[in-house]
Amino acid sequence: MTPKHVYVTRQIPEAGLLLLKKQGLKITVNHKNQAVTRAELIRSIKNKDGLLCLLGDKIDQEIIEAGNKLKIIANYAVGYDNINVPAATKKGIMVTNTPGVLTDATAELVWSLIYACARRIPEADRFVRSRKFESWGPKLLLGTDIHHKTLGIIGAGRIGQTVGRKAAGLDMKILYTNPHRRPGFERRTKARRVSLKTLLKKSDFVTLHLPLTPKTRHLIKQPELRLMKRTAYLINTARGPIVDEKALTRALKEKIISGTGLDVYEREPKIEAGLLKLENVVCLPHIGSATTETRTKMAVMAARNLIVALKGKRPPNLVNPDCRPACRPAGRVSTRANV
Ligand code: DGY
Repeated sequence: MTPKHVYVTRQIPEAGLLLLKKQGLKITVNHKNQAVTRAELIRSIKNKDGLLCLLGDKIDQEIIEAGNKLKIIANYAVGYDNINVPAATKKGIMVTNTPGVLTDATAELVWSLIYACARRIPEADRFVRSRKFESWGPKLLLGTDIHHKTLGIIGAGRIGQTVGRKAAGLDMKILYTNPHRRPGFERRTKARRVSLKTLLKKSDFVTLHLPLTPKTRHLIKQPELRLMKRTAYLINTARGPIVDEKALTRALKEKIISGTGLDVYEREPKIEAGLLKLENVVCLPHIGSATTETRTKMAVMAARNLIVALKGKRPPNLVNPDCRPACRPAGRVSTRANV
């Protein structure tokens, strides 16, 4: 029997690749240290049974059509807005993601951004490196307190709730929005579910934890930014297009809000030029899940999804169950040796 053939769009941690190899799969990896081009992807996906791709790979109708033998698209991310899921579903192609394993790492990055913004850490670092530090000063680089302030969490899913739980010890008030109440989260953190409007008006730190969908695109634009306190900060580690980046740039310039911490961008990897000129912006290159431990777990999870799907079973993190109503439940793939 000819082995199933998988295309991996970028080098992922070895544990994931090893797992695929152990299963006797033939693997082709894009070894360049850059994203695969569209032309290359269309060429490479031909005759492949599986695709392991990144959140930056746009898997649209044309790519899906080019995958003449494709059975599974395993996204190396929890968010899968880069994939045209309905098109895949229509062709009976399974789509999977990597939920859960990156929750803590991403929540930790949210807190890094909150601290970085509130205490002006990158700005202070730039100040020292440019040899401007000449004496201690009572008004030098004054930031703002975090403790006893109000944290507003837009979207209380796995990551949003974890961000809230990590506020323990800071005596913060927590507000959140979510389609339904989270009683366990409320008990543990004393969080209160409120409307988006109330959250924006009352929070000192607003953090976004929503998937990108037609409904959430530009959820935060000029009117929403105008509702925020002038002293507030907006943190986005979810998906760039949730925020209207031009409106945000204007709001920062006009001091409508105090600052922002961004890990994601509307036209990633491109960034609104005006943003980079502002001191009250902390910009990161989409590193929410970027720890060695987490990225390894993501690689193993994505590989496991691929392996199970290529065995004709239902992978553990299937996001489009409608694609194959007849899929059998997931089989076990040992990952112990590799994690
Ligand atoms: C994801 O997995 O969706 C994250 O954005 C990766 O950091």
